[in-house]
Amino acid sequence: MSARYTTRILIPSDQDTYRCAIQALQADDVVAIPTETVYGLAGNAFSDQALDKIYAAKERPAMNPLILHISSAQAQTIQSLAEAEYINAEAIPQAIVEALDRVINAFWPGPLTLVLPRHSRISDRLTGGLDTVALRVPAHPVAQKIISSTFPLAAPSANRSGRISPTSAQAVYDELNGRIPFVIDGDACEVGLESSILAYLDNSLRLLRPGAISLKELRRESGIKILSAQKHPAEVRAPGMLQSHYAPDTPVKLFRNETELLTLLKQQGEKPLGILLLGPPGSHDLIKQLQKPYYNVEVLSAERDLTEAARQLFATLRKLDYTQVELLLAQVPPQDQGLGQAIRDRLLKAAAPKNLFSS
Ligand code: TXA
Ligand code: MG
Repeated sequence: MSARYTTRILIPSDQDTYRCAIQALQADDVVAIPTETVYGLAGNAFSDQALDKIYAAKERPAMNPLILHISSAQAQTIQSLAEAEYINAEAIPQAIVEALDRVINAFWPGPLTLVLPRHSRISDRLTGGLDTVALRVPAHPVAQKIISSTFPLAAPSANRSGRISPTSAQAVYDELNGRIPFVIDGDACEVGLESSILAYLDNSLRLLRPGAISLKELRRESGIKILSAQKHPAEVRAPGMLQSHYAPDTPVKLFRNETELLTLLKQQGEKPLGILLLGPPGSHDLIKQLQKPYYNVEVLSAERDLTEAARQLFATLRKLDYTQVELLLAQVPPQDQGLGQAIRDRLLKAAAPKNLFSS
């Protein structure tokens, strides 16, 4: 069990905030920081003591590796990552190095993580014993400032293991109150979903986790073939992806369209339900049904905009989870290559291992 703290939420405009956070990190403590994707639970990536505290606060299995968050200055090219002794660039063929340089140039800083052959100084504690390391350059100014004032930070999402990632300082507080000293409040996360993970594994580039940066964009910028995780499951290499993630306490059932939702509502009778819609309901029948007092209805985007839906997803799931409903019904976007795929991925995980679709 981790130590007890009186968890404080710090505001970036407050003079003492950076001093408190940096001092805590230098003392091998952990601090929750905002990034543009989700909030991270940060600690010195080169301190076993700090890494132990991260795993303890999250109750995370030690075999699940952490992402190393580095400064933009050290992450200009594959060569610069090698010079900073994060990766072993010799294990990457030249054509892939060139493709990755184009990807780095296009998307860093930003919501993209690269999994690459690790340098020997990167600890097993960080990588869960894998021969690769996950690297990310967050774009959020608070994260950038803290990293450039300290050292590279290990930072998993700042939730207890297996639960929904936090997209606000309050959500971090709700997850980790008493387990960490500080949360820095950097407002609601702009992206709202965890970074896309692109890995060099078995001589190919593979998308291990879909996110805001799509397979299509990665293919376009890299100029080479990138395999999708769906077609070539690399889960064995990413132990964290084997578990049910992003799970609210309330059970979740998924539906694809209004007809499926109407069928589900009929089946559930007058049960209190949370209902998560991607856009406003269309049919008169459904609009009427949703007015029932025992339903708690949330619409992710009035314009059916997937960027806004992604930004709101975790906060809305959390909000519905806090209400006293017995079941959450959530609408999955259709299969596509962009944010729809990322939202779909998170919802499928929230509903696993229960039956995935209503039909
Ligand atoms: O957007 C993000 O990536 C956020 C923010 C805080 O940066 N971080 C995040 O970390 O989502 P975490 O630990 O919750 O998810 C990282 C995922 C895990 O599923 C882990 O298994 C995988 O990345 N991972 C880490 N190192 C890996 C490696 N060497 N090979 C394959 N997967 C790896
Ligand atoms: Mg996570």
